[in-house]
Amino acid sequence: MKKIIKNGIIVTASDTYKADLLIEKERIALIGQDLSDPAAEIVDAEGHYIFPGGVDPHTHLEMPFGGTVSKDDFETGTIAAAFGGTTTVIDFCLTNKGEPLQNSIDQWHAKSRDKAVIDYSFHLMIGEINDAVIDQLPSVIEDEGITSFKVFMAYKNVFQADDETLFRTLEEAKRLGALVMVHAENGDVIDHLVKKALKEGKTEPIYHALTRPPEAEGEATGRAAQLTGLADSQLYVVHVSCKEAVERITEARKKGYDVWGETCPQYLVLDQSYLEKPDFEGAKYVWSPPLREKFNQEVLWSALKNGELQTLGSDQCSFDFNGQKDLGKGDFTKIPNGGPIIEDRVSILFSEGVQKGRISLNQFVDITSTRVAKTFGLFPQKGTISVGADADLVLFDPKVERTISVETSHMAADYNPFEGMKVTGQPVSVLSRGEFVIRDKEFVGKLGTGQYLKRARYGDFKLVDKEQLTIK
Ligand code: URP
Ligand code: ZN
Ligand code: ZN
Repeated sequence: MKKIIKNGIIVTASDTYKADLLIEKERIALIGQDLSDPAAEIVDAEGHYIFPGGVDPHTHLEMPFGGTVSKDDFETGTIAAAFGGTTTVIDFCLTNKGEPLQNSIDQWHAKSRDKAVIDYSFHLMIGEINDAVIDQLPSVIEDEGITSFKVFMAYKNVFQADDETLFRTLEEAKRLGALVMVHAENGDVIDHLVKKALKEGKTEPIYHALTRPPEAEGEATGRAAQLTGLADSQLYVVHVSCKEAVERITEARKKGYDVWGETCPQYLVLDQSYLEKPDFEGAKYVWSPPLREKFNQEVLWSALKNGELQTLGSDQCSFDFNGQKDLGKGDFTKIPNGGPIIEDRVSILFSEGVQKGRISLNQFVDITSTRVAKTFGLFPQKGTISVGADADLVLFDPKVERTISVETSHMAADYNPFEGMKVTGQPVSVLSRGEFVIRDKEFVGKLGTGQYLKRARYGDFKLVDKEQLTIK
């Protein structure tokens, strides 16, 4: 059924204005004043902003990691994402050396297909590079629409790839039109520091942070950026946590290298001291890269404001405190890395960013949605409010004040790292391709309605009606 959304304030990455929206056949059909259609349901958005649905570029749903599997899957993870104002997620598909890439992609399709309530896509991990892998990449791009490849520079003996793999992946990405993503930490140096700490009997969660210093992140970020320049390729640095990494990205961009940076809510509002919480509670705050000293938060905020960092990912990778994080009691290296963030990503950026005057309302939309869609080949189908775009919309109450808590969250993990944090603003209703997934703060979606998105090549647009937009 058609819908007309009335009385809301539309906010895009560039504009803020009051207008009605007509939704027809999953897309935005018309934007204008005083729209009417007797066949349309009228939705009143008085008192609300209307944002394009958030696009989360970084999730790990039901991912085997750290001796266990991340708790939120494509069902709970995408429901929580929708509650939080996100209507598209791009999840990391892990691969195994020596196995066809398609096997891994098929596995990821199998675990998402019947569960996702919002649209989704995949990045593909590259753990090794050889002729066999290179031969498979064109079909990964053309048949699967996977146009971003992830290389881990850390997690030695698990995911870590060497510099040759990174460099050749950058070369192939350039040739084929894909974007290379890196987890930038120096895994070899970290491995040495970890072994030394354990030998000295340092087993508490705080040593996770102390054995992964910011210099290790800065060094890897700089190395990846230099290799990108050498290959004349394109790079996206995930989960940037510290000043050292921001500086390397900024330097690279000043040289004209095509390098992008993402940060995450946890690095903007939490700090290293959380890992020192008593009774092993510090384990709840174990991420890689780790939470940093507090001064880094303002460095990240100003990098978002001035465009040195461009996007916000959740790095959603949740584990229960009881039964998963506690695998690392007595040995911090066995604490599964990651946390439940997907639901609070958008709200934290709004509350801490827009409400506190650190970024503008339009920048907030750009960082949480538009820039992500552009970078990952989904724009303008996703990431904006325009005629022809998918009707992925968030009706957002900017005034409501609330406290984040595991009690009210929809993620599956048994704690929320932002427990007790007061935020202003909340998504009230969320539509995915014109259908309500969340209506008046209630879940009304259906499992399996989320569609897999094939993405455009790096730098290209995802045109829905290509024919219509061609000047003949
Ligand atoms: O600690 C983290 N970041 N867990 C998820 C995996 C990754 O490295 O992104
Ligand atoms: Zn990572
Ligand atoms: Zn991650």
